[in-house]
Amino acid sequence: MSPVLPQPAAPDPASAPDIAAAYASCRRLVRSSRSVEYSVMQLMPAALRPACWAMYAAAVTTDALVDDEEGSPAERAARLQAWVDALRAELAETGSSVVGPSAGGPSRAGRSHGPGGDDPDRGDPVRRALADTIRTWQLDVETLTPVFTALREDASGRRPQTWREWSLRTQAENTPWAMWCLTLLTRAGVPTTVRQEHLEAMPAFLDGLYLTDTFTDLASDLGRGILTLPEEALAAHGVPEADLLARRWTPPVEALIAGLTERADDWLEQPALQRGVHPGMAVLLRTSTDLFRARVRTARRLGPALLHRTAELSPAVRLRLLAPARVRAVRAWRRAALVQPAEPVVVLPEPRREADPAFLPPVPPRPHPSGECAPDIPAERLPRHVGVIMDGNGRWAAQQGLPRSEGHRVGSDATRDVVHGALELGLSHLTLYAFSTENWRRDASEVARLFRTMHDTLRDSDLRSLDVRLRWAGSPEGLPVDLVDALRQSARDSRHRTGLTLTLCVNYGGRAELVQAAAGLARAAAAGELDPDHIDERLLAAHLPHPHLPEVDLLWRTGGEHRISNFLPWHLSYSELHFTDTLWPEVDRRDLWRAVGTYTQRRRRHGAAPVVEGTRV
Ligand code: IPE
Ligand code: IPE
Ligand code: MG
Repeated sequence: MSPVLPQPAAPDPASAPDIAAAYASCRRLVRSSRSVEYSVMQLMPAALRPACWAMYAAAVTTDALVDDEEGSPAERAARLQAWVDALRAELAETGSSVVGPSAGGPSRAGRSHGPGGDDPDRGDPVRRALADTIRTWQLDVETLTPVFTALREDASGRRPQTWREWSLRTQAENTPWAMWCLTLLTRAGVPTTVRQEHLEAMPAFLDGLYLTDTFTDLASDLGRGILTLPEEALAAHGVPEADLLARRWTPPVEALIAGLTERADDWLEQPALQRGVHPGMAVLLRTSTDLFRARVRTARRLGPALLHRTAELSPAVRLRLLAPARVRAVRAWRRAALVQPAEPVVVLPEPRREADPAFLPPVPPRPHPSGECAPDIPAERLPRHVGVIMDGNGRWAAQQGLPRSEGHRVGSDATRDVVHGALELGLSHLTLYAFSTENWRRDASEVARLFRTMHDTLRDSDLRSLDVRLRWAGSPEGLPVDLVDALRQSARDSRHRTGLTLTLCVNYGGRAELVQAAAGLARAAAAGELDPDHIDERLLAAHLPHPHLPEVDLLWRTGGEHRISNFLPWHLSYSELHFTDTLWPEVDRRDLWRAVGTYTQRRRRHGAAPVVEGTRV
């Protein structure tokens, strides 16, 4: 049983007027500078909100200390250090919870950057509220060490080179605050268990929140000549830094923004975080996800204007998401009876990541055993997106006198080889049809074995070590839990990879996707967010479950059938079609290369008349 803690309460304004004013100042700061985050904090139990304002205000304040364009990197680092020293000094003081100026006297810089122009003799109210929060809730200030180390990196002005580096810095700056929020809940008596799957999903979710902040605030950052995106992000789309800083909306900048919104969407959707948590926590997490995804959509809609103004959420959207969440949160917390001391947060050890190839730099694709190399096709002539209907496993097995499930197992080796080949070729998107919603009509034992094969393929280190960003399109309904977990975890773990985007369609149905998009549009129209007269192809595509999946340029189906079988109906409307008789288990990467080779010979017209020597015929 945990030690019985004093039941912390919101600061009592009558007995501690200074502290109440300090918390009020934090509240103002958060509400005015981070209104979406503020609304999320209002979904916390009332007794914990002041602590949340203090923590968030401290994060904003310390970030501003290092971000401020005033002064050299060393001066910015010194400002941060002064703030941290003053915090420690305040904490070292004993006695009443009314904290006076810190022992060494708050530094000039520390004070001058305190929000709201408060009386300098009384110190920075944000720091005072944070010190009070730390004491009241018995938090360990050392938890914040990685935050300050990462902020010092920011002060140096060194931009992260890669997404992975960006993410490590993001994690260091944000995870300790998130852990403290959990600790507050636990100390207040909310049963908070942290499961391994939460620990795995949390980094991706925080990356998503932070990335959304980054591009929704892009205009103000650019205004101050600041770029916080990793160099890799710009390089991937060939965006010169100068173009972005000059707010030039060029095609590469447009592609960069599309790529960023796509990443954020992916990272934000972490259903594992909402599983097995207290209903109040589930409301918090679901609402944050919805609000941030709405911010992503707003940014996407702004287009070129995103370089000139912040992507604010419309009041209608906020109300639609927040009003029901408030009701649900109040009910959920009421049930929690915040009076019992609870077990401390159980933080499970981090998985041993250094041993997992998904967390190491990617390895290059293995050459084909024949020694054959990929044809050298210039990037602009490659199809951007190849979709494959991998058919013929069952017939191949029957030909060999084997059970159908053996066909799927050998077929998975072919799949692996094709992925290596796609990387060698330099393809950007490859989407593989692995199980359709119609495939449930098969014998249960074939289906169960097929799922097992998929699970094993996802877990094997070969795929995880490549420069492949994996995604899953389809529904979890009916799938074994371990397969769903493996699909989601593979997507999470590979989220920083930039080579090939590999989308696996598992339990996928194309018409069901269109139905989902139609329902999404209808809901938005009914909520008054969009005018039905403005619905066009772009808007429908934006409401598909994977709005960033590009149109398929080349569809290849093996196994001799000439049909589409409910695969990507929206994206296939202008695809070039390629059918081969080979049964999937007999396929290797050279078949993919041949398919792409035939594509490069095709003339795509998209409805235009053919052109011969400059004239239409
Ligand atoms: C494709 O092979 C794999 C899946 C549909 C799961 P099939 O299993 O359809 O093979 P055939 O068409 O029966 O030969
Ligand atoms: C399509 O193949 C689905 C996959 C390859 C996963 P099927 O073999 O199930 O399609 P039909 O039944 O021939 O249309
Ligand atoms: Mg088939």
